[in-house]
Amino acid sequence: MLWLVNTSLKQVHIDDVALSDLRQLAIGAFAPLKGFMEEADYDSVCDHMRLRDGSPWPIPVTLPTSSDIAATLHLDERIALIGPDGRMHGTLTVTSIYKPDLEREAHRVYRTNDLRHPGVKRLLQRGDVYLGGPVELLVPDDDPLFAPYLFTPEQTRAEFARRGWKTVVGFQTRNPVHRAHEYIQKCALETVDGLYLNPLVGPTKQDDIPAPVRLKAYLAILEHYYPRDKVFFGVYKAAMRYAGPREAVMHALVRRNFGCTHFIVGRDHAGVGDYYGPYDAQHIFSEFAPGELGITPVFFENAFYCKACSGMATSKTCPHGDDQRIILSGTRVRQMLSEGIAPPPEFSRPEVVKVLMAYYAQRT
Ligand code: ADX
Repeated sequence: MLWLVNTSLKQVHIDDVALSDLRQLAIGAFAPLKGFMEEADYDSVCDHMRLRDGSPWPIPVTLPTSSDIAATLHLDERIALIGPDGRMHGTLTVTSIYKPDLEREAHRVYRTNDLRHPGVKRLLQRGDVYLGGPVELLVPDDDPLFAPYLFTPEQTRAEFARRGWKTVVGFQTRNPVHRAHEYIQKCALETVDGLYLNPLVGPTKQDDIPAPVRLKAYLAILEHYYPRDKVFFGVYKAAMRYAGPREAVMHALVRRNFGCTHFIVGRDHAGVGDYYGPYDAQHIFSEFAPGELGITPVFFENAFYCKACSGMATSKTCPHGDDQRIILSGTRVRQMLSEGIAPPPEFSRPEVVKVLMAYYAQRT
């Protein structure tokens, strides 16, 4: 049993974010990264959104620890990575030990150092020394709930090829699929061969809808509203950073690795609160040369149901005013659900609402 902690290696405990990063690194979802970032890559990513060899990469993927633990380690040593469940999940060969400037990281990556920002809060709590180096994963992700929907980039690429898809649009979400999501996915799908519906189900902030509940809602909507042969469903078990624009670029690169040719970026992608402008996550793509990312972003403006249009539309295609548009914020939807009020079918499919209402009912 590989995962029992029976090792002569020094043991370093890692949090759920580092564990999910370890797994993504190991399966190639974060290619070209092969391990946690060394100092030179970290600095270059913070300052230039590029690894030191120039390849685009917008967000540090780091392994924080305490200075006390770091003081016991030396370069070129192989250490055991112990997950929150106490198991040894992998190893790291330490090639870099460094003290990051967390304030700078917050400003560069999140564009704020406000502790109310969930990404910044986590950043400042995780540890003040970073360990870098190549990793090895020893325990494959064996979470039974998500196992049927967990794929490596190699597997998704093979599946897209088997289906004969030459062009595939990827979709990231940390929410249930509402009508606006469905609309932009299907608009994009009209122009490509297939859709890879790829919700993030790794660590998220407390008030996001838990991933197991969302999974039920995804399966319900897929069954009722999506053509099976044009949509492939898989989960992305990585941590949400809430880094808005920079995270949109990371989400695109990851979907490139999974074999997508296109990636949807709508309104306030990966945003939280009002830290980012509604289209900042689209504008950031112009900082890269065409073709450089290896995936084409597909942009959408704010989507909604319009009563006067009798259908879904965006601010780009609908001439009517707000009084005709059904627009509900995430906060408002959560409030409605916790009061037992169903969001209207123009906002969310009844099958999705049913799953969400059942979850909120058992919470109270
Ligand atoms: S997140 O992972 O980007 O935080 P979220 O569910 O909020 O997840 O959004 C998923 C994708 O849909 C993102 O590209 C986002 O920009 C887009 N999106 C969400 N709601 C809308 C909307 N009403 N109009 C246009 N795009 C939207």
